[in-house]
Amino acid sequence: MACGHCQLLQLGVALIAAQMVATYTYQNCIEDQDSNKQSFKCMNRKKTNISAILYGLPESVLNLTISRNDIGKIPDKAFINFHNIQQLKLDSNHLNTIDKFAFHNLPQLQYLDLSSNNVSQLSSSLFRSLLNLTFLSLGGNKLQQLPGEIFSSLFKLDTLILRENLINNFSRIVESVSHLNKLQNLDLCFNKLTSLRHSNVSLPKSLAKLLICNNNLSTLECGPSFLKWVSLLDLSYNSKLQAMAFKEIDLSRTNYLNLRSTGVKVATLLNITEINFGHVDFTGTGLNNDSLLRELCKMLSSKLTSIKKMRLGVNDIRYLSWDTLSDCPKITESLDLSQNSLTSKNNNGLHCFGFLGKNVFLKNINYEHNLLTALNTCRTKKRFYSIENLSFRYNRILLISKNAFIHTPNITTLKLNINNVAYLDKHALDGLKRLETLRLDNNLLTDLFHSTFKDLISLQTLNLRNNRISVIFNRTFHSLGKLTILDLGGNKISNFQSSALKGLKSLSKFYLDGNNLKKIDMSLYHVFQDTLTVLDLKSNLIRFFKQTVHAPFVKFSKLQNLKLGGQRPHGLTLVPHAFFRGLGNLTSLYLSNNQISDIADDAFDDLTSLRFLTLDGCCNGNMALKPGTFKNLQKLAVFILENAGIQTFSKDVFGNLTKLNKLQLNHNGMQSFDVEALESLPNLRYLDIRNLPLSCTCSNSRLQNWTLHNPNVQVVYVYNLSCPKGEKHSFYNYDTRVCYIDLAEYLFFSTAVFAALFTAVPILYVKLYWKMKYGYYVFRSWCGEQWRRIKEEEENCAYDAFISYNSNDEEWVMEQLLPNLEGNGSSFKLCLHHRDFEPGRDIVDNIVTAVYGSRKTICVVSRNFLQSEWCSLEIQLASYRLFDEHRDVLLLIFLDTITERQMSSYHRMRKVMLKKTYLRWPGSDGINPMQAQDLFWNQLRRAMKTGSKLETEYDDVEDGGAAADNYDFRDSDTRTLIADENFYIS
Ligand SMILES: *[C@@H]1O[C@H](CO)[C@@H](O)[C@H](O)[C@H]1NC(C)=O
Ligand SMILES: *[C@@H]1O[C@H](CO)[C@@H](O)[C@H](O)[C@H]1NC(C)=O
Repeated sequence: MACGHCQLLQLGVALIAAQMVATYTYQNCIEDQDSNKQSFKCMNRKKTNISAILYGLPESVLNLTISRNDIGKIPDKAFINFHNIQQLKLDSNHLNTIDKFAFHNLPQLQYLDLSSNNVSQLSSSLFRSLLNLTFLSLGGNKLQQLPGEIFSSLFKLDTLILRENLINNFSRIVESVSHLNKLQNLDLCFNKLTSLRHSNVSLPKSLAKLLICNNNLSTLECGPSFLKWVSLLDLSYNSKLQAMAFKEIDLSRTNYLNLRSTGVKVATLLNITEINFGHVDFTGTGLNNDSLLRELCKMLSSKLTSIKKMRLGVNDIRYLSWDTLSDCPKITESLDLSQNSLTSKNNNGLHCFGFLGKNVFLKNINYEHNLLTALNTCRTKKRFYSIENLSFRYNRILLISKNAFIHTPNITTLKLNINNVAYLDKHALDGLKRLETLRLDNNLLTDLFHSTFKDLISLQTLNLRNNRISVIFNRTFHSLGKLTILDLGGNKISNFQSSALKGLKSLSKFYLDGNNLKKIDMSLYHVFQDTLTVLDLKSNLIRFFKQTVHAPFVKFSKLQNLKLGGQRPHGLTLVPHAFFRGLGNLTSLYLSNNQISDIADDAFDDLTSLRFLTLDGCCNGNMALKPGTFKNLQKLAVFILENAGIQTFSKDVFGNLTKLNKLQLNHNGMQSFDVEALESLPNLRYLDIRNLPLSCTCSNSRLQNWTLHNPNVQVVYVYNLSCPKGEKHSFYNYDTRVCYIDLAEYLFFSTAVFAALFTAVPILYVKLYWKMKYGYYVFRSWCGEQWRRIKEEEENCAYDAFISYNSNDEEWVMEQLLPNLEGNGSSFKLCLHHRDFEPGRDIVDNIVTAVYGSRKTICVVSRNFLQSEWCSLEIQLASYRLFDEHRDVLLLIFLDTITERQMSSYHRMRKVMLKKTYLRWPGSDGINPMQAQDLFWNQLRRAMKTGSKLETEYDDVEDGGAAADNYDFRDSDTRTLIADENFYIS
């Protein structure tokens, strides 16, 4: 038996090993959706060993992200099995050692990120085989030096990032990249460079962007044409760098030069270089007063007639006087004044652009991050028709007066967000007929009036999020016929007046999240019922108390995205019947965090287009989803059901989701899983079952096997699933052999029982052949329709006695018995088989009929009789009547002396003899035979006359076969009727 187990197990192990090949479950990685086993993220796994991370990944991987682990070393040939990799990210580990052949055999690698590690040394041949590499980042390490040949074969390199290291030798860097004639971007910011001194080599001509910000440059000391081909040069935050360093350096092709926070005096620079003035970024160059700015404008004008972008941010400008920029070249695109210290106090009318003077052609003005507190009415009649975009974000604006923008009638975007606007005059926005985007979010507005937006007939986006609006009055938006996006989220709205939304006939996206709405009154929204696609009602006070409500969304057939999550403070509580009726085009539904205790089983019935559903944290405690709840969601692809209190996962609830691709079930109450239910989701590719109290018992042995070996579904981090507390195994490796051993034992025992039966049956058959055969006949007569007929017949019996005898004894029957009972003064009617049996009928039926159709059955017992099959049946049937029906029908006549040994195989007859009287034919030999024969016939006649009615006097004796069997045969002589009889079978 033990060995049987071994074989069974070996077979199992072999099967499992064979299946291993098709596994779809990774130890430390998650495959990107639909990436076809090509793109993997293995992040935040706290692994120190790279081979542990790579374990089990398929050869087909192209993109591999191993960021944010604790890997310290990449050994030689670490990726030898993954020669197709194109993109490899190893950033944010603890790498300090990268072996010489770490990236061996990665001919397709194009992107390699080694940033944010602890690398201080690299081997010169490390990147030698990466002939296809285009992007390499070594930023955020501890590199001081690079070996000269390190980039020698990276002919396709386009971007090299060396920022945030300790590099102090610029010359070595130039030497190592000078031959890379595809190199376009070189980032050396945040290093220790003090100059751009270099040996007799040059930068590749391809290099367009050179970033050397945040170093210690005090001089450049490079050849005059060294930077000739660089178009973007960032030298910012080199505080010691002076203008004189640029002397004679050719920057003629530079179209962006950043000198922020350097010691460079702009005026000096412009005097000594040939740079196009329009390409210098004046951000953070200390131009903090009016006269410096005026001087700059004059210098620029001396060389330029127009300038695209005038960047004057971060100059600590407090004050701009009348006409300050009037002498500047014509600014054609944008003016950046952000991050200065402009205030409203010193600049009354700053936003009225007096400082621009004649410079009235620009399109965009940026005032972000200043100290403005008010936007007052402009007194000037001057109009700035070119201005399109105005941003006042991140100021301290508290009030906006009447006609504040009347001088910029053509603006299309106005950003007033992230201020303190508490007072917005009813006419502040008058005249802005071209305005398309208005940002007023994150202010302190409480009231909107019907005239506030009355001129904004072109407005498409209105953002009023995070204000303090509590009521929307009648006709507030009545002019906004073109508005498509209205964001009123994060206010205190509890009430819309009944015509509040009138006029919003194009509205497509309506955000009302984070307000105080108590119900969904879609009658208010009817204005845009044909255009609304997004409705966000998250985090309001909506709650349902009864299962039947008027379905609110019936007419919103265009709605695609509906958010109802996180209702405060009690949640939705329930999802009423047919609640989403009419939403046949809805694709996304959010019901998270709602303490739902009941979802009507027809709630989702209309959502036949739904592709995304989240019930994350939807429900309170035990959520029992009803069978068929999701039956119509046949397009659902992503289902987030995290932390929803689900206790069981069954086919009748989830079985219809045939398009389901991604299922997140973490943090629920399931202890086991119906694997068939999982298998009934044909498109499932991603399953998250982390943080379930899965039991590590035989009930989950199928699940364990499925999670590890099914070929289609990625089960996230299956090797981290744990067993309940206190168990030392994990879910993936808890011992399920015991489950199969049990099975083996069952198999063993059931086989044993079968074997025993098959052995016993033939023996019993031989031993109990007759018993069984009688049993069969008795049973047959029991069951046959004959039974009833026999019963009836018995009431008026056809015969007085049925004579059962063997044909060898026929002579005695015909010559002795028949004359004595049928003739000779007695008139018993006897049934003899050769005379009275119905011809052509089955002999068994005849016997049964005869036994049951006669009051008595007389058995003529002789040695021949005992050997006859039919006689046995006859006595059997008669004794059945005696024992089982308690009818005394049996009379035994012994013709021969029969010994106990001969008797012993006729157990039933012996029993009859114990119970019943019997007669012995005295024969013709004894003393006075005629007298004895006369006595015999008399006694027989008397016995035949006794009724066959129910016998009860034997009940105490007849106590089941066992009692009769144990009855001592010798003690039964007292019942012998015949005096001379010593028919003891001894
Ligand atoms: C570089 O990649 C291309 C296509 O991705 C491939 O055909 C080529 O063989 C690779 N180069 C090398 C040197 O392997
Ligand atoms: C708002 O307008 C409706 C008619 O559209 C009117 O019945 C209702 O009284 C108005 N509400 C207020 C407060 O003026």
